[in-house]
Amino acid sequence: MSGSKLFEPIKVGSVELQNRVVLAPLTRFRNDDDGSPNADLAVPYYAERALVPGTLLIAEATDPSLFAGAYPNVPGLHTDAQVEAWKKVTKAVHDKKSFIFDQIWSLGRVNPGVVQPKIYGPSPIADGEAKVPEELTKEEIHELQQNFVTASVNAINAGFDGVEIHGAHGYLVDQFFQAVSNQRTDEYGGSVENRARFGLEIVDKVAAAIGADKVGIRLSPFSEFQSMKDENPYPQFEYIISKLQEVHPDLAYLHVVEPRVSGGSERVWNEKEESTEPFHKLWKGAWIAAGGFTPESAIEYANTHENSLVAFGRSFVSNPDLVARVKEGIAFRPYDRNQFYNAKAKEGYLGYEFAPELKGKYY
Ligand code: FNR
Repeated sequence: MSGSKLFEPIKVGSVELQNRVVLAPLTRFRNDDDGSPNADLAVPYYAERALVPGTLLIAEATDPSLFAGAYPNVPGLHTDAQVEAWKKVTKAVHDKKSFIFDQIWSLGRVNPGVVQPKIYGPSPIADGEAKVPEELTKEEIHELQQNFVTASVNAINAGFDGVEIHGAHGYLVDQFFQAVSNQRTDEYGGSVENRARFGLEIVDKVAAAIGADKVGIRLSPFSEFQSMKDENPYPQFEYIISKLQEVHPDLAYLHVVEPRVSGGSERVWNEKEESTEPFHKLWKGAWIAAGGFTPESAIEYANTHENSLVAFGRSFVSNPDLVARVKEGIAFRPYDRNQFYNAKAKEGYLGYEFAPELKGKYY
């Protein structure tokens, strides 16, 4: 396996990675009630996944403000306590000579909390009481964009190597991107260009604040999670990617989810009509592909796609040593979906031992 491009160095923004296997962002709800990563849980969790030096980890979706997100036990980056808590995580990863970006999100219409950023479109919350969300005011739009900027600055202060804007999976940025949810008639909706505006402005503002080489963005043109997916996603996402290539060719990376998955699950997909290849052709910088990869298909992907990395999600839950397992050809331990989202539970979060075959070489 070590002959594969997957284990050749690659530059991503300002960091030099030693391999191209990436930890996908994974919401696990294990944070303290104040949104601080827990020192006894999150620190060893991320440190274990940084086992192979020169690996890139993308930390779980993080709230840039209370207005932006209000799921319980999700981390934040808007208080001093949260920044201090994240410092322990980033230090633990850097001590292993690996790297860590933080994913920043805003929930928009899926926000179950009291503060709810609003956008037109049917709410996907299936509790029978879901209200049709209202349109964000311009003031609220600018406030939320500023939240992303402040959180990104906080991320750098907390020791992160960069941030990933969560433009995927039906959260707020994606709600703006897609016609299925964006029914605005002002300059933030109504056309391909207008729908792209909210997210692209966030990239502009965050890049201006921390440097484009510390910013990535994630897109999921085919995901149906949370009632998303435009009938034909190509014009919208080709525009977004072309614009990023034109304005921010030095962005750290573009992260695009394959049509095989919707959120954290498999989806039925049309192999003839759905493909990320047209998007890949538009982007010259570092490219992260995610969704339904096996060690074999990841090796194949890296060998056949210029400048590309492959992110793993679900298998990283039960295999903290996933990068070493891929490199050494050791089978993955199966994951248990029941352990994914249990708030504050140590069980199913820590305690997955490294493969004994790796002893002596990796630990
Ligand atoms: C996810 N996924 C996800 N995506 C994202 O952009 N931000 C997030 O915080 C999360 N959280 C999350 C939690 C859990 C438990 C799962 C299973 C998934 C999606 C994830 O990053 C990845 O794209 C998918 O899991 C598909 O990749 P795999 O699992 O097929 O390798």
